[in-house]
Amino acid sequence: MQVWKDYLETNKDRFLDELLELLRIPSVSADSKYKEDVARCAEAVKQHMLAAGCDKAEVCPTAGHPIVYGEKIIDPKLPTVLVYGHYDVQPADPLELWHSGPFEPVIKDGKIYARGACDDKGQMFMHIKAFEVMNKTNTLACNVKMMIEGEEEVGSDNLGKFLEANVEKLKADIVLISDTSMISMENPSIESGLRGLAYMEVEVTGPNRDLHSGVYGGAVANPINQLCKMIASLHDENNHITIPGFYDKVLDLKAEERNDLNKAPFDLEEYKKELDVKEVWGELGYTTLERTGTRPTLDVNGIWGGYTGEGAKTVLPSKAYAKISMRLVPNQISKEISNLFSDHFKKIAPPGVTVKVTPHHGGEPVVTPTDSPAYQAAARAIKATFGKDPIPTRGGGSIPIVALFESVLGLKTVLLGFGLDNDNIHSPNEKYDVFNYYKGIETIPFFHKYFAETKA
Ligand code: BES
Ligand code: MN
Ligand code: MN
Repeated sequence: MQVWKDYLETNKDRFLDELLELLRIPSVSADSKYKEDVARCAEAVKQHMLAAGCDKAEVCPTAGHPIVYGEKIIDPKLPTVLVYGHYDVQPADPLELWHSGPFEPVIKDGKIYARGACDDKGQMFMHIKAFEVMNKTNTLACNVKMMIEGEEEVGSDNLGKFLEANVEKLKADIVLISDTSMISMENPSIESGLRGLAYMEVEVTGPNRDLHSGVYGGAVANPINQLCKMIASLHDENNHITIPGFYDKVLDLKAEERNDLNKAPFDLEEYKKELDVKEVWGELGYTTLERTGTRPTLDVNGIWGGYTGEGAKTVLPSKAYAKISMRLVPNQISKEISNLFSDHFKKIAPPGVTVKVTPHHGGEPVVTPTDSPAYQAAARAIKATFGKDPIPTRGGGSIPIVALFESVLGLKTVLLGFGLDNDNIHSPNEKYDVFNYYKGIETIPFFHKYFAETKA
């Protein structure tokens, strides 16, 4: 639509400046040191909602970080789009690997470099700007509700409670989220599923204190050695996970579904080159796309213990720790998998050590059907602005709240993401292409328009 294009063209510099301003706020949800910044960011999001034309916008306090809610109801008879996103970001460390400050956004070669540029400030903000575009050009086709949270990166615990307490307020026809990625700008795609998550922390204790590794070494179980052995045993020679019952509920894809999935453009050589790895790794019998999109995984996220300072200290440590996450696929259940893990991990502990397992957050896997009117509206929107039909893909990441949108609010979700896999989300030098940012703002209004048509 020309009015949208014109409005975007006239305001594009401001749209970019406003995003950069938001990126300067270090809204790291995991680190309590940033609590004030997180709150300041919530306030900024609220002000942007009001400036864009929301009838009301509020910062809703929770037991953790606040949720920002805004809405504009133009006609109760029209369909309602509930936009979800998050304004919190991952910690920026390791800082020394950034080429510029994580909270001092710079634009280089058409890319915005900053923590949160893609995940999810850049993508979330596209919705506020697209709403402004529609509102200021009097072309809103749907009622709009926006719920932008501050705890996605730490598991969305309080948002679940917020949903339960606000079922009426959040009534809508669809949830729309931009917090996933596309194959490329040449090959636009829409993710039609997310993996679930079970995140565990383990503590292995050997002797009651750190020991001299000469005096005691060879005679007492070293908890770090034992932990490594236990972790190594969690995959077999085919890289299957060895936890009994782990795969019991996994739904195998039909041959046709696998076929479709593997039709997506994917260059294995390019993939390896980009990551500087000589070979990929994974479960025997599956392609890389299947491994990330449709298969469950187990990964150590961090492991520590003993002496890691400068130089050498000869010590047989008392304790060893690891953080271990499992990505889940339909129909695995986070709680069940975390119990299977705990039982198994305790069972494989050798007699010389004791093991403590603590579950962290989890989330359920979801699939978003490609034959729904909402998905079709998203596909048409992509077609309108990219000139190509989007390819349906299965994403490997997790957005735990999406399963609750369905179970608590009875709402389906459309994942209209504009990130790229190499945007370095959660890594140093996170970026988001300015082109993608504008493309998102251009595409979202078409979703509202086409979604309204499916309901007319
Ligand atoms: N936006 C990501 C999830 C994502 C990224 C989905 C790319 C698909 C493609 C989200 O912010 C995220 O990082 N989620 C966490 C889970 C959370 C419980 C910490 C994840 O996937 O690790
Ligand atoms: Mn995200
Ligand atoms: Mn994230």
